[in-house]
Amino acid sequence: MLRDVQEVTTETSVLGTGIAFPMLVAPMAYQRHAHPDGECAMAQGAAAAGTIMCMSTMATSSPAEVGASAPDAPRWYQLYVFRDDGVTRSLVDQAVDAGFRAIVLTVDAPYFGRRERDIRTGWMIPDDPPVPALAAALGGMRQTTVVEHFKLVTAGLSWKDVERISSDSGLPVLVKGVQTAEDALLAVEHGAAGVVVSNHGGRQLDGVAASIEMLPEVVDAVGAETEVLVDGGIRRGTDVAIALALGAHAVLVGRPVLWGLAVDGAAGAQRVLELLRDELALALGLLGCTSPDELTRAHVGRAL
Ligand SMILES: Cc1cc2nc3c(=O)[nH]c(=O)nc-3n(C[C@H](O)[C@H](O)[C@H](O)COP(=O)(O)O)c2cc1C
Repeated sequence: MLRDVQEVTTETSVLGTGIAFPMLVAPMAYQRHAHPDGECAMAQGAAAAGTIMCMSTMATSSPAEVGASAPDAPRWYQLYVFRDDGVTRSLVDQAVDAGFRAIVLTVDAPYFGRRERDIRTGWMIPDDPPVPALAAALGGMRQTTVVEHFKLVTAGLSWKDVERISSDSGLPVLVKGVQTAEDALLAVEHGAAGVVVSNHGGRQLDGVAASIEMLPEVVDAVGAETEVLVDGGIRRGTDVAIALALGAHAVLVGRPVLWGLAVDGAAGAQRVLELLRDELALALGLLGCTSPDELTRAHVGRAL
């Protein structure tokens, strides 16, 4: 209290790239099922709000299309690694050619989680629209369903692949799906530029801790040198503030932005990001902070 908070900024940077607020769009597959303009609109919404979109391997637009729809905006590419090295190489090449600046390597999905709600509703991802990057990597426009997609993903990924993917692509790699201090340290040891503490929105393994619970031990393990991002359940500006106070450099936001996209395309995604930005600015000001990096663990306490 009684700290001059007339000027509050939410601006920050991730891996050296300036962004308007410490939130990025989480990788989410198949966005043209949410809105006909899909990933291209998401890229435009993120760019208009001033942040980075992380595009999924399972995107229903190609890296080139997404790059062209927001050419000046920084963008990251989420990678699933395939059993066939040639497929993975082709995907990475497409991302590099389209100007993606970092690889977010998802490591918590060697198998597709058993998602009982999906099973109950019987909802299946239709084959159309296809996943063009994967179709190109597989050679020709062969279309595959989500279950088939995941059958092509390797369960044989290991830590040495982190270094290989970084040197093959020439891009920094963030490891997404880290849940413990031990794995965070292994990620750093194997050349990761950052880690994303995540349990895939709770949709992979039953019984794992919430990512916000795992965050402090990861931050303490890797130290200030490694950027730690977190996702899962960020729904309010105060959620972002809590994550930053616990040591996250930035957060990824998934479903809220997807719902924004579904409602109103690029403008809807932008609006959700801006609502979260404004809520964060308010939380910072009310916590006596003028910028995200003034948040500390002293600003949070465990609810009894
Ligand atoms: C519809 C949907 C699709 C997703 N697809 C991917 C994906 O392709 N790759 C990935 O690494 N994570 C994927 N995720 C997980 C998100 O990146 C994120 O970890 C998770 O949704 C938690 O954030 P949230 O609670 O803000 O949604 C997906 C999540 C959703 C909801």
